[in-house]
Amino acid sequence: MKPEWDLLHTPGPTPIPPSVERAMNQPMIGHRGQKCKDLIQSVTPRLKPVFKTEGDVLILTGSGTSALESAVVNTTNPGDDVIVVVAGSFGDRFAKICETYELNVHRIDIEWGKAVAVDQVEQVLREQPQTKAVFLTHSETSTGVMHPIEKIAERVNQVSDALVLVDGVSSVGGAVLDMDRFGIDLLVTGSQKAMMLPPGLAFVAMSERAWERIQETSRPRFYLDLRAYQKRVGDGQTPFTPALSLLFGLDEVLNLIEEEGGIDRVAERHQLMQQMTRKACRALQLPLLVSDEDASTTVTSIRPETFEAEQLRKLAREEFGLVLAGGQNHMKGEIFRIGHMGYSRPANVLQYISILEILLKRLGHDFEPGAGSAAAQEAYLEGTREDQA
Ligand SMILES: Cc1ncc(COP(=O)(O)O)c(C=O)c1O
Repeated sequence: MKPEWDLLHTPGPTPIPPSVERAMNQPMIGHRGQKCKDLIQSVTPRLKPVFKTEGDVLILTGSGTSALESAVVNTTNPGDDVIVVVAGSFGDRFAKICETYELNVHRIDIEWGKAVAVDQVEQVLREQPQTKAVFLTHSETSTGVMHPIEKIAERVNQVSDALVLVDGVSSVGGAVLDMDRFGIDLLVTGSQKAMMLPPGLAFVAMSERAWERIQETSRPRFYLDLRAYQKRVGDGQTPFTPALSLLFGLDEVLNLIEEEGGIDRVAERHQLMQQMTRKACRALQLPLLVSDEDASTTVTSIRPETFEAEQLRKLAREEFGLVLAGGQNHMKGEIFRIGHMGYSRPANVLQYISILEILLKRLGHDFEPGAGSAAAQEAYLEGTREDQA
């Protein structure tokens, strides 16, 4: 039977909950009418707990990169010194955007698969005391590393006045990311990952300090000018036509997050899926690219030694409609990545681990049959013990 849908376990786009699909499938409304105002005024305050901020969360129409670009163009002037942590292709993207906008970029290049150390950031800040902003990626989707954002932000704020700007594209909605408490000035994400929506929306949350900088920045900007979005957000408006169907879906996504018990419960589910996946991989003798300490809660990278990563992905797609991601740049063919975020549950982990076991048999990989599923089950029971007590 030809399946109608994929078992999509890439780290974005991710599957959409059926209730969100239904919500998006509504008749169109006028974007300057009362219905649209009501919708924006309903979703905007409910985004704040997702970002854990008291500040405004602005909604842009564009992919995640539009939010990264908006972070750069709104907070910097040409020639400003900035630091960018580059530990994979999305850190590299932030650096390229900064270079495009003629910033004096001090890159901190980290081996792919490793997280940056807080001291490394401090050292570069001390060498470049004129630094205006530090650009960080929380979950580096290309490797499955989650940088210690809380500690980095704390240190940056201790030793400098630089703004802390964070790409949370594959972490907001799938990890604990307490923007105000961590001292993050600007936190951005896209809709198609842990936010359980199709691609097309971008979100920008900003602190008071970021907002002051945005107002002072003299660089010309138009579509991505956050001042224009901020000016209209209180009236339930956006400066340009919003992606209305996605806003219908967002309303339902927020219902689902609230029904689950809020963003902390959602983050716990992601943590549980991470644990199940990692323990299963270990039991299956699959080498993990990233250490436990640095591992992302939303994506897990495996670097196989006894078979070709691309061969496994091909079999998974053809035989089971299970879509996994490959490596990027120099890691192409070297790793495969499993996304476990958004509309993804422990039941899905049990499913893909079981499928992996069949494929590993086909590929002649040596492991004890059933060991992965048993380890995932054990991790599930361990992770939910308190819930049941
Ligand atoms: C961490 C991170 N940053 C930025 C992006 C870019 O987002 P988009 O492809 O939506 O422009 C991605 C997409 O995979 C990402 O994972």
